[in-house]
Amino acid sequence: MSIETIETPAILIDEAVARRNLVKYQAYCDEHGLALRPHIKTHKLPHFAKMQMAAGAVGITCQKLSEAEAMADAGLDDILITYNILGPAKLARLRRLAERVPRLAVTADNAVTIEGLARAFADADNALAVLIECNTGANRCGVATPGEALELAQTVSNSPGLAFRGLMTYPPVGGTVAVDKFMTGAKELLSQAGLACATISSGGSPDMWRADSAGGVTEYRIGTYIYNDRSLVERGACTWEDCALSVLTTVVSTPAPGRAIIDAGSKTLTSDLLGLTGFGHVLGHDDVSIVTLNEEHGTLEWDGGARFEIGETIRIVPNHVCVVSNMVDHVWVRGEDGDLEQYAVAARGGIT
Ligand SMILES: Cc1ncc(COP(=O)(O)O)c(C=O)c1O
Repeated sequence: MSIETIETPAILIDEAVARRNLVKYQAYCDEHGLALRPHIKTHKLPHFAKMQMAAGAVGITCQKLSEAEAMADAGLDDILITYNILGPAKLARLRRLAERVPRLAVTADNAVTIEGLARAFADADNALAVLIECNTGANRCGVATPGEALELAQTVSNSPGLAFRGLMTYPPVGGTVAVDKFMTGAKELLSQAGLACATISSGGSPDMWRADSAGGVTEYRIGTYIYNDRSLVERGACTWEDCALSVLTTVVSTPAPGRAIIDAGSKTLTSDLLGLTGFGHVLGHDDVSIVTLNEEHGTLEWDGGARFEIGETIRIVPNHVCVVSNMVDHVWVRGEDGDLEQYAVAARGGIT
């Protein structure tokens, strides 16, 4: 099997680059006394989750129960689900998951979620660990003030079946100062109330090299760093050489000078722009733009005449790699020995 014989469009991952990325960031966390809890939503593959654990991660993060179930099936045994889990069906699944994942934790940012968790775990042998999600500026989930964090922490700690583990935030890009301010205030309030806060968990790849500057943070959750992508290169967090994942695509038409059509469209590259212009970076062709995507066609444009041959394979670094992983049943991994192996994306489509 060689790259030339892979049917396109396809996802190709360079294992040596992925390993280098995760080892490098583990070393950073070790150096700064941070526990690393990688977010598996980027790769959705037990193969890489296990590699992250072997390198020194304390556990993994999943966004959704179904991702956690897929990882538990593969033997991962320390999982944080960073989501408000609601409704009888999901709570029953969470309870079943807790029976086979010895270290399971979830987040909550409201009393309704905590009530549901408490009902589901009231008679459990082991209390479910809960972290209170705090809004430090991303304006997604999260309580707005340290006072509200304390109130919910007390509710958790007074609920049979639940155990207060700490605080969690997913900050905006450039949010380390805000995280520092919020968490310092919240820690103080918790300590005055006599509540132990074992974990303060923050995350995000764009600020990964500043993770140590938010005081009080004990754990860092990071996902994209294993593959990297165009958005992180453009933000200066990594280089093209650090991008482990690329989309292999074939030029299917060259209808006009300065224009070519490829067989990867929005169903492969996704329409995520993340504030950028164009839908990805064509490796080795810095001046070529991916100007539009249809579902199964991508349009490349550049200034000048003929450039690509019909049938030629090119590689594209997507804008946002995590959503690309969720688009395909299988990825190709080029091992450190150069051999290609196909992996099923175990947690693909894991959105419930
Ligand atoms: C809750 C949470 N933690 C951590 C991450 C990891 O972010 P990144 O992929 O930027 O490392 C995300 C990303 O969406 C997230 O939602």
